[in-house]
Amino acid sequence: MSTFTYLLGDSRTEAERLRTQAELWDPISHALFDRIRIARDWNVLEIGPGRGSLHAELKRRVEGPVDAVEQSAVFANALTGGHIQNVKLLDAELPREHYDFIFARWVFLFLPDPLAHLRKLAGALKPGGILAIQDYFRETFALAPMPDDWNALVAADHAFFEGEGGDGRIGAKMPRLFAEVGVETVEIVPHILSGHPGSAVWLWLSDYYLNILDRYAQLAPFTRAKAESIAKSWREAEKDPASLIIAPAVLDVVGRKRAAWRGGPT
Ligand SMILES: C[S@@+](CC[C@H](N)C(=O)[O-])C[C@H]1O[C@@H](n2cnc3c(N)ncnc32)[C@H](O)[C@@H]1O
Repeated sequence: MSTFTYLLGDSRTEAERLRTQAELWDPISHALFDRIRIARDWNVLEIGPGRGSLHAELKRRVEGPVDAVEQSAVFANALTGGHIQNVKLLDAELPREHYDFIFARWVFLFLPDPLAHLRKLAGALKPGGILAIQDYFRETFALAPMPDDWNALVAADHAFFEGEGGDGRIGAKMPRLFAEVGVETVEIVPHILSGHPGSAVWLWLSDYYLNILDRYAQLAPFTRAKAESIAKSWREAEKDPASLIIAPAVLDVVGRKRAAWRGGPT
């Protein structure tokens, strides 16, 4: 039984944040699906679809059902068209060597033991099947002009995901993990969005960070005083159209299951 707690929950506020985040990022995922050339009738599995905008897009592309594993009952109950399992991935029952394509965006950074999760997915992939993970390498996160104590904020950002055993750098670790489960990395594409005050990128990152600073303030060396100082600097920066925010990088990591790999238990 997988016991970790998913950090961001499924409140209405979080669902709305996921919706606006998806508006910004879905075109990047669609471009990934174009490159992979997802075809009609492929067997597809999505992990952690959340509000499901990409689950709908995948169904549109295969012109049929798309299976999903989603640990939130709120999100799982809203998904249709496919075998939807409302469990954590490690507790899911997946068919062996069944899927042509397995996809997860922004799920792995939360997961303890990513190798066990990848081993499970590799077991469910057909030989030659494609695994695509879109996930963070959060090191690129910056605000210009850079506020005092920025490094403490970045440290708290990492500590937050590490709190439940996750990893905000997991995107960059994927190729080595893929290799351990018999998946050959065929492509890594970075996306580092940036924007000035008022832009969609600025609003997306302000919505996340300014609302989570209270939780981050619990994570030393970040403190409540530093959180307040960052929030003040952020709001000051917002008044200057020349200010720039640089987002945490998201990496598309695409792999192909080696034909000979039969793997361990799923
Ligand atoms: C940050 S949201 C991303 C949602 C969606 N993939 C997107 O790109 O908009 C992470 C999602 O993964 C789900 N999730 C987290 N851990 C999971 C696990 N172990 N098994 C299945 N779903 C999980 C959460 O419930 C949530 O819906």
